[in-house]
Amino acid sequence: MKKIDIALLGFGNVGRALAQLLLAKREVLREHYQIEWSIVGIATRRHGSVLNPTGVDLEAALSFAVADKEISSLAPNNADMDGVTFVRTSGADVLFENTSVNYQTGQPAIDHIEAALEMGMHAITANKGPVVHAFGRLAELAQAKGVRFLYESTVMDGAPIFSLWQEVLPVAKLHSFRGVLNSTTNLILTLMEAGKSFDQALAHAQATGITETDPSGDIMGWDAAVKVAALVTVLMGIPLTPDNIERKGIDDITLEAVSKARDAGLRWKLICQAWRDGEGVEACVRPEQIDPNDSLYNVMGTSSAVTFVSDVLGDLTITETNPGPQTTAYGLLADFIRVVR
Ligand SMILES: NC(=O)c1ccc[n+]([C@@H]2O[C@H](COP(=O)([O-])OP(=O)(O)OC[C@H]3O[C@@H](n4cnc5c(N)ncnc54)[C@H](OP(=O)(O)O)[C@@H]3O)[C@@H](O)[C@H]2O)c1
Repeated sequence: MKKIDIALLGFGNVGRALAQLLLAKREVLREHYQIEWSIVGIATRRHGSVLNPTGVDLEAALSFAVADKEISSLAPNNADMDGVTFVRTSGADVLFENTSVNYQTGQPAIDHIEAALEMGMHAITANKGPVVHAFGRLAELAQAKGVRFLYESTVMDGAPIFSLWQEVLPVAKLHSFRGVLNSTTNLILTLMEAGKSFDQALAHAQATGITETDPSGDIMGWDAAVKVAALVTVLMGIPLTPDNIERKGIDDITLEAVSKARDAGLRWKLICQAWRDGEGVEACVRPEQIDPNDSLYNVMGTSSAVTFVSDVLGDLTITETNPGPQTTAYGLLADFIRVVR
C-alpha cells in the first residue's frame, strides 16, 4: 500500500469537488490501486489554512467551507501563511494547486508549483496560468527532481486532452485545432438564445460554479485565450502567451444580435482556433455566427468541444457535455493516479 500525503492549495469550487471525489473513491483507490491518501494541509486566501501531519478531517473541512467558516480552527496553532510557506511546511508528497487563475502572469501559482517541485513533491493543477506562463521551466524542474507536473484539468475540465496526445497518440503532429473551449460564455449565449438577458445568464452561470473567480476573464475571452495558449504551448511545442492571441470576448453581443442570428438559422459561438504557419503559429479567439453544418453548432450550454487536425488521423473531435467542478476534479484525480503509479 502506498501512503500518499496530499496538500490542497485552493479550496473553492474545484478544491472542494476534488475533496468530495477523493472521499467517494477512497475504497477503490485502496483496493484497486493500493493508494491510501491523507490530507496534511489545506490553504485558502481568505478562509485560513490548516496543517496537520497526522491528517486533516476532510469532511469537517468541507462542512466549514460550505458554511463559509475559517478552516484554521480545524487544528491548533495554525497561523495564516502565504502559499509558498504552506507548500514548504506541508511535508506533502503531492500538491494540488487550485487557486484562482492569473491570466497575465500565472502568479502566485507558478511560485507555489515551483516550491513543491523543488521540495520533491509532484504538482497537479487545474490552474492554466502556470501552464502558459512557465510550462518549459516547470516541466524541466519536475524532470530534474524526478517528479511529475500534470495539468489535465486546465483545458476541457476532466476530458482527456493532454494525456490523449502524450500517452495515446505517439508521434502524431498536431497541425491545427478549432473548438468551443469556454463553458461560461457558451452557457450565456445559449441562455440568451432562450430569451434571458446577459445579466440573468451570467448569474445562472455563476451559480453553477463554472465561472472564473472574476467572471470578466470568461466574458472578455481571456479564459478561452489562455486555453488556446496552453494547447499550443504543450501540444504544438510553441510557447504562446494569451496576450499574443488575437482575442475578442462576447461582451458586446446583445440579446438583439442573438435573436437576429437565431431567426437567420445561425448561432453565436466563441470560437477558439490555432494553426501552424511555417515554423510559427497563428491563433485567435472571437465570437462567430456559425450555421447548422458546423460541427460546433450543437455544442450548447456548458458543453465544450475541440476538433484536432494532425498528420496521422482525420479530424478528431472530443466533446464534453455539461462539465462542472466535479468533472474538473476527475481530471485532477486521474493525474493523481498517474503520478502515484
Ligand atoms: N470551476 C471550474 O469548473 C474550473 C474548471 C477548470 C479549471 N478551473 C481552474 O481551477 C482553479 C480554481 O477554480 P475554482 O472554480 O475552484 O475557483 P474559486 O472557487 O474561486 O476558488 C479559488 C480558491 O483558491 C483560493 N486562493 C486564491 N488565491 C489564493 C492564494 N494566493 N493563496 C491561497 N489560496 C488562494 C481561494 O481562497 P478563498 O476561498 O479564501 O477565496 C479559493 O479557495 C482556477 O485556476 C480555475 O481556472 C476551474
